[in-house]
Amino acid sequence: MKKIWLGSSWKMNKTATEVAEFNQQIQNALSEVPQSLQTFLIPPFPYVQSVAESVTQHGTRVGVQNICWAEAGAFTGEISASMAKDIGASIVEIGHSERRAMFNETDHSVNKKVLASLNLGLTPLICVGDTFDEKQWDVSRESIVRQVKIALFDVSIDQIENVIIAYEPVWAIGENGIPASAIEAEEGLSAIKHALVTKYGAELANKIVLLYGGSVHPDNAQELIQQPSIDGLFVGRSAWEASGFAKLISLVKPYCESKEEQ
Ligand code: 13P
Repeated sequence: MKKIWLGSSWKMNKTATEVAEFNQQIQNALSEVPQSLQTFLIPPFPYVQSVAESVTQHGTRVGVQNICWAEAGAFTGEISASMAKDIGASIVEIGHSERRAMFNETDHSVNKKVLASLNLGLTPLICVGDTFDEKQWDVSRESIVRQVKIALFDVSIDQIENVIIAYEPVWAIGENGIPASAIEAEEGLSAIKHALVTKYGAELANKIVLLYGGSVHPDNAQELIQQPSIDGLFVGRSAWEASGFAKLISLVKPYCESKEEQ
């Protein structure tokens, strides 16, 4: 049975003191998470280890927000997949729109990072999304399917089950984002699903976890999680405080069983 996924990237936020507080405050909520709900947290690099030490006992997975595609060598300032693994990460977020827009992340570099993660047994969480212009031009579908296809280039059939894809419309993310409606989120993810089914067949494609992210908050989480192509939610601002993350856990929990029946 496919689990429901709920996780948060903290982006470049929190001090060490705030992380210690979060670690303490989230314990109760995580200890009551059912097996059918897979939670995950993606802190900034310096906090990955302490978060992993605090939450993996509850089955919560921890990730990093980026890696280098190279294994080791003269790449000043970069962090490799094996270093991420060494500090307790099992997920690597790749290709977030903020990295694509501000740090020269390209479809090609996303693909190289996906392959580097998979080769070490890490789970790549690949972010794809359409821009506001692409939405206006009615090419959202083409744009996100293209990003997915390039990200998965050369990924073997054996590895594909270990991939997570998050549809995060660029226009829906962050302070100035316009939250996607459940219909828009479903449209994006069903386009991705369709492309995956075409490439890998239905059985394998159905094993790939599909997330929605972009202005998820307590008021829209339940409607989003009920969409047929949405396996989980990838949250920013609304889950940064432990109380916010705990609230979202309690909101999606009731849907774990009904999703299992699908
Ligand atoms: P917000 O939930 O703050 O819009 O951020 C979403 C996001 O970028 C998750 O990766």
